[in-house]
Amino acid sequence: MRVHVADHPLISHKLSVLRDARTDSPTFRRLTEELVTLLAYEATREVSVETVEVTTPLTTTQGVRLTSPGPLVVPILRAGLGMLEGMQRLLPTAEVGFLGMIRNEETFEAETYAERLPDRLDGRQCYVLDPMLATGGTLAMAIDFLVARGAREITAITLLSAPEGIERLERDTAHIDVPVHLFSAGLDERLDENGYIVPGLGDAGDRLYG
Ligand code: PRP
Repeated sequence: MRVHVADHPLISHKLSVLRDARTDSPTFRRLTEELVTLLAYEATREVSVETVEVTTPLTTTQGVRLTSPGPLVVPILRAGLGMLEGMQRLLPTAEVGFLGMIRNEETFEAETYAERLPDRLDGRQCYVLDPMLATGGTLAMAIDFLVARGAREITAITLLSAPEGIERLERDTAHIDVPVHLFSAGLDERLDENGYIVPGLGDAGDRLYG
């Protein structure tokens, strides 16, 4: 698994405002969208394109367009929904699939309560959106869904990741053939005894929608 942690002052600045407990929900939502757009720019660097001929007002030239079928964007409900608009700003034509998942706060195991993905994903690149990679159980399960349907490549985009979650994903994806990448705005220190990312930003779902 290739892990990319953003190293850009604008991303660090916006992330710092997100962390601040005094930041209100409207600001939190807006900054989340902005951060995702910035992250998505890097995360889509290898998005599939094909060459096309373009007719300009003066001549014809070679250009590119996204290959068809295009990428699939998968926000993990609930908190991942707050990242969708920022992603769609860069990929407005991408199809969107949904996964509803909640972490059991006793066992830390992820449970799926909604799944609306295309039946077959053969050859498609998938971008999974979830602000927090904590223990990694949620993203690991989401990746399993996409691999089972034939995804060609999976890129997870997160705002904050914990080392424990990255280790789990590295372990869980080591045996699969599908390339998996992680793009995160920040890498935090650890998880606390409640499975929260520290220093973190609190509960992303609550701060977006609570
Ligand atoms: C949070 C977060 C991730 C998950 C991360 O969601 O948005 O989906 O926990 O935890 P993990 O890496 O330990 O699995 P939560 O279960 O709180 O649901 P929500 O998005 O509906 O708030």
